[in-house]
Amino acid sequence: MKIRDGRLKKPLSKSFEHLNSSIGFDIRLAKYDIAGSIAYAKALKRVGIITDKEMKSIINGLETIQLEIENGKFVPNPENEDIHMNIEMRLLELVGTVALKLHTGRSRNEQIVLDERLYLIDALKNIKSNLKNLLKSLYLKAKDSRKIIMPSYTHLQQAQLISASHLLLAYYRAIYRDHQRLLDIEKRLNEMPLGSGAVAGSSIGIDREFLLKELGFISLTKNSIDAVSNRDFIIEFEFILTSIFLTLSRISEDFIIYSTQEFGFIILPDELTTTSSLMPQKKNPDSLELIRGKSTKIIGNLFSIITLLKALPYSYNRDLQEDKPGLFESIDWVLVCIDVMREIIDGFSFNDSRIKEVIKGSKDYIFATDIADYLVQRGMPFREAHQIVGKIVSFSESNKKRLSEIKIEEYKKFSPLFDKDIYKVFDPVKSVNNHDVYGGTAINRIDEILNEIEEELKNI
Ligand code: ARG
Repeated sequence: MKIRDGRLKKPLSKSFEHLNSSIGFDIRLAKYDIAGSIAYAKALKRVGIITDKEMKSIINGLETIQLEIENGKFVPNPENEDIHMNIEMRLLELVGTVALKLHTGRSRNEQIVLDERLYLIDALKNIKSNLKNLLKSLYLKAKDSRKIIMPSYTHLQQAQLISASHLLLAYYRAIYRDHQRLLDIEKRLNEMPLGSGAVAGSSIGIDREFLLKELGFISLTKNSIDAVSNRDFIIEFEFILTSIFLTLSRISEDFIIYSTQEFGFIILPDELTTTSSLMPQKKNPDSLELIRGKSTKIIGNLFSIITLLKALPYSYNRDLQEDKPGLFESIDWVLVCIDVMREIIDGFSFNDSRIKEVIKGSKDYIFATDIADYLVQRGMPFREAHQIVGKIVSFSESNKKRLSEIKIEEYKKFSPLFDKDIYKVFDPVKSVNNHDVYGGTAINRIDEILNEIEEELKNI
């Protein structure tokens, strides 16, 4: 049976059939489509469109199809266009003409939105759980790395000393925000669209509250036109996936830089690196590069869905079929890449001795702000202190001396405020602990945040 036969005299052209078919990608919605149809069959019985016996027969048939899908026995037919028609046609084969009653008062326009919402509610749970694992790994690594002191960077130039935990906890914060964003969209995903019909609402008085409860939604969509045209829940979802990927990609970039011979701050786990087919010495950070590379797809998919909606007339248009491939691709990769990043965080180690060497190699310039702070503590206006330290740095450069090697007499020439205790400034731990403010890098402040995170992780 072909639904087009009533209205259209000729079969689909082969090339259009290829374009028209979405079963290649919407097959993954099968489980949700079946759940929606089972609930709908019950609702049809409640309004007297089908008998109890017919309902049971439909539900049995749908459950059989579900099993066939799980056992890989369900063979979709591309001629049946999409997942909805494929299931309906299989149901017809299994239970006979009673299957033809299932679609009463229902449209695929609402069915697809229902399937997508149910699918995303599930996907969201998986992403949240992967994110939580990544957050835990970042937390544990940060807890382990409190005492490792490394340079921080602005403009990729050495800036000030920080505890290595501070950087890991910066990554933590970004990922945590995305986790929170997912919680926030959950309520908007949880709006039940069935009963919207094709556009104007159901004409058979279907009990929407009943469907809501059967399917476990939180609220009902409030406008049938909006219900079948709205895809902003997909935009929001893909935005969050993009945001996650932006962070993963930035961490990747950091780690790629830190693992170079030139930096050598971190050692990547062997199992997440590759070697070159030509150069035997190589240990390449391919896992990180691929995460950075994959992020382009995810960003592209977000742009696709946004562009798809721009200028799309209300309400449903077939263009909307194209909302799925990119969404599915982004979800698949986000799950994989969060996991790979978690393994990287678990498996990498800081090369503390190399970091110390680099700090030494900085000719103590990394303490320049600490020297300015020293003068400020003794009453000098910061701008003046900044200038004086600038002069000291250039003096050190032309005299090829580290800042800690400059004699006290020389220091005093720059400012009488300098005293012998200036040399205490060149202490990495002290420098870090100077930033003793909530959210700063002082070790006690990191501990404060680690304690908060311990609680935070219990509640997500
Ligand atoms: N495969 C379609 C989609 O993904 C389902 C809805 C089809 N509706 C329609 N009126 N042709 O959007």
